[in-house]
Amino acid sequence: MKIRKAVFPVAGLGVRFIPATKFMPKEMLPIVDKPIVQYAVEEAFDAGIEEIIFVNSERKKGLEKHFKNDPELEKFLKDKGKHDLLKQVKEIVPKHGKIKFVIQDQPLGLGHAIWCAKDIVGNEPFAVILADDVIQNKVSALSQMVEQFNEFKSSIIAAMEVEKNQTNKYGILDFKDKGTDIFKIKGMVEKPSPDKAPSNFAVVGRYILTPEIFDFLEKKKIGAGGEIQLTDAIAELLDIQSVYGYKFKGTRFDCGDKAGYQMANLAFTMERPELKDKMLKFIKKIIDQ
Ligand code: UTP
Repeated sequence: MKIRKAVFPVAGLGVRFIPATKFMPKEMLPIVDKPIVQYAVEEAFDAGIEEIIFVNSERKKGLEKHFKNDPELEKFLKDKGKHDLLKQVKEIVPKHGKIKFVIQDQPLGLGHAIWCAKDIVGNEPFAVILADDVIQNKVSALSQMVEQFNEFKSSIIAAMEVEKNQTNKYGILDFKDKGTDIFKIKGMVEKPSPDKAPSNFAVVGRYILTPEIFDFLEKKKIGAGGEIQLTDAIAELLDIQSVYGYKFKGTRFDCGDKAGYQMANLAFTMERPELKDKMLKFIKKIIDQ
C-alpha cells in the first residue's frame, strides 16, 4: 500500500493569469528562480513518490522540455566552466521512467484530467498534486499526508480554513466532528456560496486517493462550472469508504492567482539569505514612501 505514484494535472488554461499564461504554462512561472512545477516535483520525490504522471495538453508541451536534457545548454555551461549551474541543470532531469506524460485532449475539468491517468496509475493508491497550490513548510504537505495514509489507509484530502465569505472559491468539506487535524468527512461541495457552505474548511491541491475513485470519474458526470469535477467523484467515493480531511501544517499560496503568486515570491525570497536583506530594505523603502 505504498504511495508510489503522483498525478500532476497541468492541462488547465490558467485564464486567471492572462496575459502571462497566453503562451506560458502557469506552472512554468518562476518563484524566485525555480518554476512552480519544480517545487511540486521536488515535494513529490521527497515524499517517496517513484513515478510522476503529468496530465498535460498539446498547447503546454513547453513544460515537458524543462524535465528533459538540453545537450546544447549543458555543453555551453561545461565549456564555460560553470559547474554549479551545470549540476543544477542536470539535477532537474529525473532518471528514466520517473516522469511520464499523458495528454488530456480537451480541458473538461480536474476530474477528467485525473481520469486520463487511470491506465498508468493502475490498481493502487496514488497522490494528486495541483502544482499551482504551493505549500511552504519544512516537512512538505505531501510527506505529512503520506504519513497519515500509512496510518489510516484510506483517501485523504488536504484542507485549510478560509474566511467564510471565500467559500465560493473552493471545494468545501462537510464533517461531523473535527477533533484533531485529521477528521472523517461526510461530504464535499464545489464552490458553495457562504450561506450554503457546510463549513469553512477548503480543499487544497494535495490528495491521496484509492483507485476506486476511477469508477466514479469514469461516469464523467458534469458538475459545477460545466466541468467534470474531482469533488463530485470524491462525494460518491464517500458511499463506499472513509475519506479523511487533513489540516496540513504549512502556508499555502494560490499561485494560479496573481496576488497569491506575488505573495509566494515574497515568502520564498525571505528564505534565501542572499536575497532577504536586499528585499527587506526595498519593502521598508516603499512602505515609508
Ligand atoms: P484550476 O481550477 O486552477 O484551472 O485547475 P486552470 O485552468 O489551471 O486555471 P484558471 O482557473 O483557468 O485560471 C486546477 C488544476 O487542474 C488542472 C489545472 O492545470 C490545475 O493544475 N486542470 C484543470 C486540468 O489539468 N485539466 C482541466 O480540464 C482542468
